[in-house]
Amino acid sequence: MNATDLLDLCPVVPVVVLHDAADAVPVARALVAGGLPAIEVTLRTPAALDAIKRIAAEVEGAVVGAGTVVTPRQAAEAAGAGARFLVSPGCTDRLRAAMTDTGLPFLAGVATASEAMALLEHGVTAMKFFPAKAAGGPAYLKALAGPLPQVRFCPTGGITLDTAGDYLSLPNVGCVGGTWLTPDDAVRAGDWARIEDLARAAAALR
Ligand code: 3PG
Repeated sequence: MNATDLLDLCPVVPVVVLHDAADAVPVARALVAGGLPAIEVTLRTPAALDAIKRIAAEVEGAVVGAGTVVTPRQAAEAAGAGARFLVSPGCTDRLRAAMTDTGLPFLAGVATASEAMALLEHGVTAMKFFPAKAAGGPAYLKALAGPLPQVRFCPTGGITLDTAGDYLSLPNVGCVGGTWLTPDDAVRAGDWARIEDLARAAAALR
């Protein structure tokens, strides 16, 4: 799988923040059952690497990745835990090199034409657009498609079920990401059925 395949896997990539690694497997099973196989577990909590390990080992059909990768070390650790893709909110030369070294597909974050062009110089054409809503939303992405038609994005940040379709209708958007599929209260309550319903509604977007 390369980064372009990742953009085409499903319309929505759930961005999952897990405080307890014991929730990882039931959350991932609910997302896969709802039709969303690509799951980004953010490295924002101490439980994240363990959560990635568990999903990789136990959830059939899941393609688990690591999000909020901001240091070269995190890229290596995520790969070691079994992540199958990496996502970062922004990009530096060191981080890009470290993500490339893992051999995994990655979506590095950009928010401007210059940042996208810096990645293009390294042959990278699939990127995260972050923070999507605050940076200008669908209108901004549409404007980037003119001068940079070779770039395809996964916009993330401030996207909901109601606004996802506006992004997905753009030719330079492969999929969108967001945390709305795994609300903290649903995870804490163990309401896996609600998460599956949210995933199903998102999977139907395309
Ligand atoms: C990300 O890391 O991609 C964002 O924090 C997504 O969060 P949101 O969907 O809650 O904006």
